[in-house]
Amino acid sequence: MATVKLRDIRKSFGPVEVIKGVDIDIADGEFVVFVGPSGCGKSTLLRMIAGLEDITEGTLEIDGARMNDLQPSRRGIAMVFQSYAIFPHMTVRENVAFGLTINNVGKADKASKVAEAARILQMEHLLDRRPSELSGGQRQRVAIGRAIVRDPKVFLFDEPLSNLDAALRMDMRMEIGKLHQDLGASMIYVTHDQVEAMTLADKIVVLRDGMVMQAGPPMELYHEPANLFVAGFLGAPSMNFLTVAVEEVSDDWVQVSNSVLSSVKVPRKGREFTMGQNVTLGIRPQYLIQAADGQGMLKGKVVRSERLGNETVVNLAIADGTQLIAAINADTVLDPGLLLAWTFDTLQAHLFPEQL
Ligand SMILES: Nc1ncnc2c1ncn2[C@@H]1O[C@H](COP(=O)(O)OP(=O)(O)OP(=O)(O)O)[C@@H](O)[C@H]1O
Ligand SMILES: [Mg+2]
Repeated sequence: MATVKLRDIRKSFGPVEVIKGVDIDIADGEFVVFVGPSGCGKSTLLRMIAGLEDITEGTLEIDGARMNDLQPSRRGIAMVFQSYAIFPHMTVRENVAFGLTINNVGKADKASKVAEAARILQMEHLLDRRPSELSGGQRQRVAIGRAIVRDPKVFLFDEPLSNLDAALRMDMRMEIGKLHQDLGASMIYVTHDQVEAMTLADKIVVLRDGMVMQAGPPMELYHEPANLFVAGFLGAPSMNFLTVAVEEVSDDWVQVSNSVLSSVKVPRKGREFTMGQNVTLGIRPQYLIQAADGQGMLKGKVVRSERLGNETVVNLAIADGTQLIAAINADTVLDPGLLLAWTFDTLQAHLFPEQL
């Protein structure tokens, strides 16, 4: 187990800076998930921690010791890739033992470590097979097994489940969560999958364009996004955004409206707003609900509704042309063309000084 500390980490490929001053603290035994759009630098950051990429500037510490110039093999880290990276000509046993073999670990020690990893990953019955005789999930388990036997202080995972189908992803997600519970090791995990991020993370780090947009516990980021980017990035379906004008500002709330939305008071959350300023109101689809008679804050016409079983996702058009999404009770059927009144819980709404 170990702490990991990144201070003003930067990375340039030639003249192009892709990591632009990143500070991250990972506590002993913490499960940290990196998310962000494609190309924002998640893999690069992970590869710098592993020692597979040079650090252009800044400091990387593991357990208080500077790692910048240390060989990957001496950092106490094991990395699991999306592509498994296991050897087709070796059995599962040989694949799992690979890192131990090249480090000349003794036979008995090696056998007991492989047996322990196989037990943790429930793949004892697969040890004599070759990768071609395994499913995708089983192959990924071999790659994870190879990491476990090295007994690393820190596990790094780069989208380990993205080659798997939905059902298998869910199984493996549970297994990785359980692995973390059992081993108590520090883990850094990159994913595009919101559910993986929300369910596995003690802390989510949202990255954009080589910078940290916000870092914190999943529920904190979901309920208190620090900016428009994080608000729109986390949550499915995505948060709805409306451009509104500020009418009044108090210590605790801000009153806003626009041509299609009647005046509402929304929590200010310590942000600065000025009268008349155009700002962005955010409403999660789950909080946009059909209004009782005379209670509507805005009118929206049903464009399309999709019944998903657990909820119905309704695409709405409001009079100024903005499209909104409402996630409502699964049993509701709303026909296209219906013009309905909608309301939302203003305490759950978000107001951002930035404009879309
Ligand atoms: N070896 C390299 N040489 C030049 N540019 C690179 C190199 N590796 C990555 N980059 C660039 O650095 C940026 C970050 O890439 P990175 O692979 O870290 O993104 P990512 O967040 O992992 O994206 P994805 O979600 O698609 O995996 C991208 O703009 C990419 O093109
Ligand atoms: Mg990547």
